[in-house]
Amino acid sequence: MQCLQEIHELRETLAGHRRAGRTIGLVPTMGNLHEGHLALVAEARRRADIVVATIFVNPTQFGPDEDLDAYPRTLEADRQKLVEAGCDLLFAPAESTLYPRGGSAQTRVSVPEVSEGLCGGSRPGHFDGVATVVTMLFNLVQPDLACFGEKDYQQLAVIRRLVDDLHLPVEIVGVPIVRDRDGLALSSRNGYLSTEQRRTAADLQRTLRELRDALEGGAAIEPTLATGLARLRESGFEPDYLELRAADLRPVDASTRDAVLLAAAQLGPARLIDNLSLTLPR
Ligand code: PAF
Repeated sequence: MQCLQEIHELRETLAGHRRAGRTIGLVPTMGNLHEGHLALVAEARRRADIVVATIFVNPTQFGPDEDLDAYPRTLEADRQKLVEAGCDLLFAPAESTLYPRGGSAQTRVSVPEVSEGLCGGSRPGHFDGVATVVTMLFNLVQPDLACFGEKDYQQLAVIRRLVDDLHLPVEIVGVPIVRDRDGLALSSRNGYLSTEQRRTAADLQRTLRELRDALEGGAAIEPTLATGLARLRESGFEPDYLELRAADLRPVDASTRDAVLLAAAQLGPARLIDNLSLTLPR
């Protein structure tokens, strides 16, 4: 696996692959890789000739009180995992390479409607940071396709919309959530949890499953969500939101069938997110 840090090296290398008619699949990450990321690499491997992973802890998607400094940087271990997963090229630029004028780059990509509420509500500016860096990475790599995890459901919707609005020639592939045996969605932030908190963390998914079963059985939405919030609080979470939305993230109405439960909750030092799709009865 080639490891590159500089933009000109990345461009030259990928131009060679493109000239040879090879397709390129991109897996953008912030590192601290787990099985969820490796599932993205595996999907890109299935679909493209060349798999490019990027590792970049993007400062512009962290709020002032968030965990930018604490975010785990594990480049050497990540590199090894990517080699084992069959990745062809790792691009791990320095912050000053992507933001040569500092984090205050003037140009921002914003997808306001899809970014509203949910994580966008509690993390103002987060999705502008994500949309901007993902657009940068698309420009640098010019992939045929890019793989993103469905755990970050709203992020995936933001990226799909930006690609659609800007007519970017890249196919966006959503990859199902990878879970631990007890159902907890894998996340780099799970590493912040104590043993006790880690046991509790699976209650987020258990609660979503209970709510899904109730809603698919015809239970009324508002009281069901209220029960879910109470259940999360009892387990020790501080819920940020627990919402039912249509699958395209629009508000649910009488005609909605394909829906998704979305939750974010603080558990000790970790902000956990999860989601579960469901079908509402007629
Ligand atoms: O999902 C992530 O890890 C990040 O938000 C992404 C897409 C790599 C952009 O920094």
